[in-house]
Amino acid sequence: MTVTEQDVRAAAPTNAPEDVVTWVAKIAELTKPKAVEFSDGSQAEWDRLTQLMVDSGMFTKLNPAKRPNSFLARSLPSDVARVESRTYICSEKEEDAGPTNNWADPVEMKKTLMGVFDGSMVGRTMYVIPFSMGPLGGPISQLGIEITDSPYVVCNMRIMTRMGSAAMDLIGQGKPWVPAVHSVGMPLTEGVEDTTWPCNDEKYITHFPETNEIWSFGSGYGGNALLGKKCFALRIASTMAKRDGWMAEHMLILRLTNTNTGKQYHVTAAFPSACGKTNLAMLQPTIPGYKVETVGDDIAWMRPGPDGRLYAINPEAGFFGVAPGTSYDTNPMAMDTMKENSIFTNVALTDDGDVWWEGIDGPKPAHLIDWHGNDWTPESGELAAHPNSRFTVPASQCPIICEDWEAPAGVPIDAILFGGRRATNVPLVAEQYSGTHGVFIGATVASEQTAAAEGAVGSLRHDPFAMLPFCGYHMADYWGHWIEMSNKLGDKFPKVYQVNWFRKDADGKFLWPGFGDNSRVLDWIVRRVAGEVEAVDGVTGRYPKYEDFNVDGIELTQEDWDKLFAIDTAAWSAETDETAKYFEQFGDHLPAEIAAELGKLRERIAKA
Ligand code: GTP
Ligand code: SPV
Ligand code: MN
Repeated sequence: MTVTEQDVRAAAPTNAPEDVVTWVAKIAELTKPKAVEFSDGSQAEWDRLTQLMVDSGMFTKLNPAKRPNSFLARSLPSDVARVESRTYICSEKEEDAGPTNNWADPVEMKKTLMGVFDGSMVGRTMYVIPFSMGPLGGPISQLGIEITDSPYVVCNMRIMTRMGSAAMDLIGQGKPWVPAVHSVGMPLTEGVEDTTWPCNDEKYITHFPETNEIWSFGSGYGGNALLGKKCFALRIASTMAKRDGWMAEHMLILRLTNTNTGKQYHVTAAFPSACGKTNLAMLQPTIPGYKVETVGDDIAWMRPGPDGRLYAINPEAGFFGVAPGTSYDTNPMAMDTMKENSIFTNVALTDDGDVWWEGIDGPKPAHLIDWHGNDWTPESGELAAHPNSRFTVPASQCPIICEDWEAPAGVPIDAILFGGRRATNVPLVAEQYSGTHGVFIGATVASEQTAAAEGAVGSLRHDPFAMLPFCGYHMADYWGHWIEMSNKLGDKFPKVYQVNWFRKDADGKFLWPGFGDNSRVLDWIVRRVAGEVEAVDGVTGRYPKYEDFNVDGIELTQEDWDKLFAIDTAAWSAETDETAKYFEQFGDHLPAEIAAELGKLRERIAKA
């Protein structure tokens, strides 16, 4: 029994317009599911689907006394992170995808996809999820519909986006929407038994920027499967943003309030995956006089406002955060956000039905069920939680969520931070010399690779703007777009700062305490923005003076400071050579301004 067009019509809610019904029927004809359901986003739907997954073994219900309405899922070891090697930009011209993306011919890729999606949902229910990225009906928001055969995806999308009937209402009013098709790629044909994490070894995460389509096959995990997130809100949105004069960025958004004056600042920060965006977004200042409120922890859509300033919204409704390392010590606000109504994936399970991961508060339990579902003891010598295990939580549950986090027109941005994991070379903080130098700072972000994507963890890689895996078009054209936006807004474009929490000393110890103490860096930045403090010209940018920097309550001597800001000219000279080599691949797409900034950096090194 497979779903027919009549079945789709019967299942469709009355507010689903004809173009949606026709499209769903077409996808059903291709994928051949046994049933179709349109998601309404209701509590009843969540209750029914979470129970269905508990019954099938995909979800473990956590102890309601410890973690109400929360669930644990364990994936297969082959499906634990984004698969960049299987992520494609299918633009008509290869050149438009650029040298840092995998490109595939759209016609060829469609043929391949028609092959793998043919019958891919056999024996499964097909879910139709209308969703909005950004507040419903907001001027910067965008609509989409994800079709998936994974109830896990439905429940995660309910947390991560504004999903259900209200989004369908807007689609029914004729607003444009992005079609996104997802299948775990494990049809339940005769003789095939379902598993608790269906997926396929063959994976395709594909984007068609000219037609705004997304097709994802074979993975049920995170950004591979929750298509509103990286696929739509970054890859497709970045191409829309270039066309229409706005920006889609891999950035957290926070509000910093000076509690003495009441003055508010808004800061965005781009750090590569698993490099501290969630931490900074929920920062608890260790210095008095400041309050941080969270607007977003992963993605920012930014547009010039009527006053010529840049305004940002968080297109998401939840946080899909890295669990390991999260504790009341490092990120108490994240811990409080996940007290209930949360989904955990690939963390460990305690004997009393709660979650555990490396770096969480308290001693190691004597016994756990690890992320593979096996018994674990401290002696087993293995990680109990996967390094890329994650929590999915509603942003509204964050105790410091900003009252304006859903403001449809966004918040005005005062400063933009770029950072990465750099054990060497990069000082704690440096301010741009100019708008184009700011873009150069973004273009030269490099970071030690984390577990958020497949590949060798720890190796240094270029990750310009923290967008390497997320830019939907030619990377150097994207830098050109930044230069254009920066020039257009002129003095009103936010100042750019390069930051690095991860510099180490000769013994491999972090030189900077990080976490809540990053408020000291924010303090200097907003005082600079307000014009209240001087800076000294240096090799990579303008640096704080030690005496202007708040070190009350931490031990940070002038000697430590000198190490944090040390410039090894030989190492920097080598770094510029390496950067020049990296730039070569972009050919004549490389903006002349960026090449010129590299020249200026070399001059400053030579003079140092
Ligand atoms: P994605 O969700 O993958 O885009 O990443 P994210 O940038 O939100 O990552 P997240 O904030 O979850 O990164 C967590 C990792 O960064 C953990 O390993 C933290 O220990 C580490 N981290 C965060 N802030 C700091 C800091 O100030 N200093 C140091 N040393 N580590 C930090
Ligand atoms: C990232 O890898 O940057 C994430 C997690 O935010 S995922 O949604 O899986 O891409
Ligand atoms: Mn991310």
